[in-house]
Amino acid sequence: MNLTREEALALLEAHGRGGAWMCHCRAVADHAAALGRALARRHPVDHAFLWRAALLHDIGRSVTHDPVGHGVAGHRLLSELGHDREAALCASHVLFGLEAHEAAQFGLPERPHLPERLEERVVTLVDFLVEHTRPTTLHLRFESLKQRNADNPFFSQRLDRAHEFARAFMHWVEGEIGEPVEGLFAGQTGGG
Ligand SMILES: [Fe+2]
Repeated sequence: MNLTREEALALLEAHGRGGAWMCHCRAVADHAAALGRALARRHPVDHAFLWRAALLHDIGRSVTHDPVGHGVAGHRLLSELGHDREAALCASHVLFGLEAHEAAQFGLPERPHLPERLEERVVTLVDFLVEHTRPTTLHLRFESLKQRNADNPFFSQRLDRAHEFARAFMHWVEGEIGEPVEGLFAGQTGGG
């Protein structure tokens, strides 16, 4: 059974217990919804799933802020509650997707965990375009991630590939919506 918006918010709040990171989740949900509306002119978009999955993508931060571990924790938490589609995105938004051997290394089921559906890819891209609650550029966001994770060789080495995937998908999105994503976000306020 799909979560309603209210149920998804209540679930985030129950686990987040007032954590500042929940503002990021709400901001990603708002910006992903805006991008979803723009894409819906040319593609079918499940707006309810898009918003819900964006809101819950970082719920694993209630367990750990490790840059990979929070995705694994979110995957476990939401799988145990039976929210499999949202659980899948918790895992696959990490580094724009994990290969099977990488997933296994971090305790996920040994198969590729990649954002494949349009909604999953939108959330993953938007996560890389929102620093805390503010829209930013891919360049600045990846620089910031690199600096913050300099002591994590696995994560920092994989960031370049994630950046390439994000850039390629953003390029496709901009062709579809006919404007830069940053321009679309300029009128959005950060969720708080
Ligand atoms: Fe995350």
